[in-house]
Amino acid sequence: MAVDFRGHPMFPRGFNSPTRFEADIYDCEVWGEIPSDIEGTFYRVQCDFAYRPPENEWPTGFNGDGHVSAFRFANGSVDFKSRYVKTERLMAERRARRRLWGVYRNHLTDDPSVANVDRGAANTHIYWHGGKMLVLKEDSLPYHIDPHSLETLGRWDFHGKWQADSMSAHPKIDPLTGDMIAYSYQAKGPLTDDIAVYTISPQGHIVNEVWFKSPYLGIIHDIAITQKHILIPVVARTTSLERLESGEPMWEWDGSLPTMVGVLPRDGDAKDVRWFQGPARNTLHFLNAVDRGNRIEMELPVSDGERTPSQIKRWTFDLSSKDDRFGEEVISRSNGVLARMDDRYLSLPYRYGYVGHRDESRPYDTQRGGNMAGRVTNCYQRFDLTGGATQTFFVGDTQSLQESGFVPRKGSTEEGDGYLMGVASNYAEMASELHIVDAQRMEEGAVAVVKLPFRLRGGTHVNWFSAAELAEQRADT
Ligand SMILES: [Fe+2]
Repeated sequence: MAVDFRGHPMFPRGFNSPTRFEADIYDCEVWGEIPSDIEGTFYRVQCDFAYRPPENEWPTGFNGDGHVSAFRFANGSVDFKSRYVKTERLMAERRARRRLWGVYRNHLTDDPSVANVDRGAANTHIYWHGGKMLVLKEDSLPYHIDPHSLETLGRWDFHGKWQADSMSAHPKIDPLTGDMIAYSYQAKGPLTDDIAVYTISPQGHIVNEVWFKSPYLGIIHDIAITQKHILIPVVARTTSLERLESGEPMWEWDGSLPTMVGVLPRDGDAKDVRWFQGPARNTLHFLNAVDRGNRIEMELPVSDGERTPSQIKRWTFDLSSKDDRFGEEVISRSNGVLARMDDRYLSLPYRYGYVGHRDESRPYDTQRGGNMAGRVTNCYQRFDLTGGATQTFFVGDTQSLQESGFVPRKGSTEEGDGYLMGVASNYAEMASELHIVDAQRMEEGAVAVVKLPFRLRGGTHVNWFSAAELAEQRADT
């Protein structure tokens, strides 16, 4: 049966229809001037769909096939490349020429013929560490790809030492030591309440492993690290065997559940985990966390319920108190759910956060862009944790921005000295474009826009790696 997406509720014919192609562009069209102090590659991952998913698929689209795109910058020019991650799952479907996997993280809905084939879709995030470019999806092991050709090299299990069933898509790299803190939840397989936290050396070897239990089967999509602690938030999106047996995607919101945050000392063991508690909160991604004496402060985009607007809050954990509740205060009204920072300051005292923001007072051209008014992320905002003014970049009246990445200016070490980059969907042109904004002069607009002659579906996550980082040869990989 031929591929046919018509009538699927997730894919009205439009910008986010499956794209299903791979591309190379030598010397992209650029409007403006790419600064010469940008040298490296901006990577992004999107969920694409090679085959038609079941009708009751989780409408987030997070069960699509992993597809990596790369914008490579050198000497003021940019080349573009995109490739599917050639997962076992995608290749099995290509051989069968049809969809074989069921709905999001529900193995009970898979075709029986693939019971022993890896479900990993490599569709969420991308990290360069230990001489490997890892493409991640939280329910499975990573794939590694060639950072230049984007060709898939295979699954990666850290020299056979990764014991958990999966690796989350949000590890954290300590900018001082180069260690990667990575983790798995449902770590002994679907619906298990085990969590495993790993420390991986800059050379890519597992040097520490801690196993403990989750307070309930909630999603643990992201973690945060400080110089001394690892914070593991379990939030009120839960699952059960009954839910999987009913054929539904894994998660459902349950506002009666508390938010639980496990605090594990970086040098600690399972017995040292302390769980803090707060009211139900809807959040997936965390900005940063810092040790402040006996307190830990963590900033994150979060909303109070399933459909309430997000804002940036600070959660505070008092390690000297017997009270296991964490504190909460609002620090910014930016309403985006994805916040990024200058990653050279991850886990360290820092000043700036960068977040997408929907400003409905800005113009939107419905005639050219279609009926997307009120649904676009039309701004990036930089907010200042020391109380300085918020800066705003407005992308334009027919576009919507995806996650941004911070790109340090080559040769600079000062926090925030660099550029913000992110892909925008231009609905009027039915094409995507990469906006490059001076992160210290955001109000002035993009310094350059890379124009692609086609559309990319909405992406999941992005990361920037400098040419120097990518060229680094790790001794024993
Ligand atoms: Fe994520």
